[in-house]
Amino acid sequence: MTRSKAITYDNLALRAPAFVNDVDRVVARDVRALGFPAETSKPLSPMFQPFRLRGLTLENRVVVSPMCQYSAQDGLPNDWHLVHYGSRAIGGAGLMFTEMTDVSKDARISPGCAGMYEDAHEAAWKRIVEFVHAQSQTKFCLQLGHAGRKGATKLMWEGIDEPLEEGAWPIVSASPLPYFPHSAVPRAMSRADMDEVTADYVAATRRADRAGFDMVEMHAAHGYLLASFISPLTNRRTDDYGGSPENRMRFPLEVFRAMRAAWPDEKPMSVRISATDWADGGLTGDDAVEVARAFADAGCDLIDVSTGQTVADSEPVFGRMFQTPFSDQIRNEAGLATMCVGAITTADQVNTIIAAGRADLVALARPHLMDPYFTLKAAAWYGAPAIHCPPQYLAGKDQIFRNSVRDREELRDLRLKAKPKGHRDTWKEAAE
Ligand SMILES: Cc1cc2nc3c(=O)[nH]c(=O)nc-3n(C[C@H](O)[C@H](O)[C@H](O)COP(=O)(O)O)c2cc1C
Repeated sequence: MTRSKAITYDNLALRAPAFVNDVDRVVARDVRALGFPAETSKPLSPMFQPFRLRGLTLENRVVVSPMCQYSAQDGLPNDWHLVHYGSRAIGGAGLMFTEMTDVSKDARISPGCAGMYEDAHEAAWKRIVEFVHAQSQTKFCLQLGHAGRKGATKLMWEGIDEPLEEGAWPIVSASPLPYFPHSAVPRAMSRADMDEVTADYVAATRRADRAGFDMVEMHAAHGYLLASFISPLTNRRTDDYGGSPENRMRFPLEVFRAMRAAWPDEKPMSVRISATDWADGGLTGDDAVEVARAFADAGCDLIDVSTGQTVADSEPVFGRMFQTPFSDQIRNEAGLATMCVGAITTADQVNTIIAAGRADLVALARPHLMDPYFTLKAAAWYGAPAIHCPPQYLAGKDQIFRNSVRDREELRDLRLKAKPKGHRDTWKEAAE
């Protein structure tokens, strides 16, 4: 499959259906080689092929990306979170991430951020996990984080990354550099601070297991605490934790290894990284390959490839699927499983990315806010009837699957009518 953004899986399926069938067969054959009973004569489209991470099997390749809800009180998730995660799980994604959930009170980004540092938090998350597991096939990953120098800031809709005017708490980072010139100046972490934060991550990881989560992710992206160590733009330390790439990775790897030791062997772990800082002197895609390798060597099963948000004056190059090239680079240069994210809005793009081997999983954030049923609807369009749907909603599933067959036939007929004289249908015919 091409990496051109202009030629997608669906475009090709209209112009060269036999070629796309061949691609589907190749993807299905690879999935079969992993031990799944994937049908290769009439294969599913790539986004509906299963995937395995350690002992965890995902029903498909669509992921609900982590999204802060800024709706917790004192770290405690509530009914908003139950409805939010419950409905997205029912919508059929193979994997769903929680929002960045903080490992201590002072690790929060904002007063509305969820936590995993008290018994009540563990119990509240357990209730949500149990709902997700009882009502869906979606697997559930807890994203654990520490805000670092971006902590003690306002709720997103009151001013993202803007420092709290009242009720702020002390913040720490790799170096004493404020995010904005008007942000609070963080304290550079001492070794004792590092021990405390590591212990908080471990305690939260144990709570995640007790609450029944299938997977945990360590958040080391977007300029938060662990990311602040990795990027040379935010780490100006002169001790063993600053300077060379190895030194800058030392603390994030210590935390990761401690979490890995506390997390059951059969359950997978991921790390979210910022693969580029989009700023002069910052991390680049080549650096990200090394960062990813280091986490993989420490037992990370999936690299969640995001970018940026490290420094306030970065200059990201936005566009559809704009972060996918970094996932592509890490997956294909380091040979690691990756998840891509960022301005991916259609099932067509998901199929294109998986078929082209640019990521193993594809996460969507904002599209899932407006459409929890993104995956179920795509299953109807691409004909993946085995997707789980709760019995309460089966009548709706039957209808959309029936209508999608008709809609696809209409689209094909329109295309046949529009076909110019002498047009050859498939790339194979054209080649002959
Ligand atoms: C409301 C909102 C909250 C977010 N919160 C988090 C978060 O808690 N952790 C995280 O790693 N990324 C967070 N993100 C980033 C998303 O996971 C995702 O990487 C980003 O939105 C790009 O994907 P999209 O184009 O599909 O929205 C958030 C994004 C949004 C829109």
